[in-house]
Amino acid sequence: EGERFQQTYTRHNEIIQTLPKHRGRTGGVWQYMGFWFSSDVLKGLLLIQDRHFIPKSTDIFVATCPKSGTTWLKALIFATVNRTLFDFADHPLLTNSPHDLVPYLDRLICQEEFVSRIRDQPAPRIFATHFPYTLLPDNVRDSGCRFVYVCRDPKDILVSGWHFIHKLRDISPVSMQDAVSSFSKGVVEYGPFWDHMLSYKKASMSAPEKILFLTYEELTKDPIVQVKRLAEFVGMPFSVKEVTDGVVEKIVRLCSFENLQNLEVNKNVNSIQENYKNPDFFRKGEVGDWKNHLSPDMAAVIDEITEEKLKSEGINF
Ligand code: A3P
Repeated sequence: EGERFQQTYTRHNEIIQTLPKHRGRTGGVWQYMGFWFSSDVLKGLLLIQDRHFIPKSTDIFVATCPKSGTTWLKALIFATVNRTLFDFADHPLLTNSPHDLVPYLDRLICQEEFVSRIRDQPAPRIFATHFPYTLLPDNVRDSGCRFVYVCRDPKDILVSGWHFIHKLRDISPVSMQDAVSSFSKGVVEYGPFWDHMLSYKKASMSAPEKILFLTYEELTKDPIVQVKRLAEFVGMPFSVKEVTDGVVEKIVRLCSFENLQNLEVNKNVNSIQENYKNPDFFRKGEVGDWKNHLSPDMAAVIDEITEEKLKSEGINF
């Protein structure tokens, strides 16, 4: 196993020399198969493409562009799928970050001990990824596993990401104008947003039983309806008794921004991802906060790209 890792790492070293590079403030990104990745994440992607990750048909993936509501979805899926295992008064989400309960494959796949730990984990295993659907290898896409994609207004993603990068250590301030410019060009980690979103949107249109496409906005508007959709999608619909017992409401409340943000674990504890702290994942949790940060001109730049991209793909939301 170690030797196979090494082969991919050698390939990574060779490939990365040949890729277009953008030296950003957070260590640089490289363009690979149309998307921009940091060096670490590219390593993870190559490992997945080289089939170091062995998927199971029962696996569930939370797929998102960063800052789309990944933390929320991780919590909702974990609570929904495991609802018969835990008491709401003594729930793992009360003492663990959603990021520790639903690990990101993208970086952790580089750790051999992670790979062996997940091998025998009971089904259904739940993972998160920010990789675009089209870059995942056939063995993952055709494994029968399911994906839940969360999409969000790119203006809110951009603003959320702008706040987030300033929480990283050692970073000089980035102007909003520069952030809009990089985002529009797609030169941000896992960008361009539009191609990312379309990779899942198109796949969900041709295989709705495999890919559920949700939006942060509809989750905010009616979380009860969306959690019921989620449960059905993963093949675990709520029974009439569960609905009358208020189980859906309990899940929604447990995973709400207000509840999670105020838990000790999410207020003070460092995340498994070395640069981030758990509180960094909870900022405002609102739809449309971009209005407080983007000028009408900046917003128009983003909206025009969205419109153009959707029109050229013939997709309506
Ligand atoms: P804001 O910065 O707009 O507040 P991700 O989890 O993909 O990194 O996305 C983070 C965004 O989701 C942040 O948006 C964060 O506040 C919001 N968020 C985190 N937990 C949430 C929850 N339980 N409900 C709603 N939004 C949540």
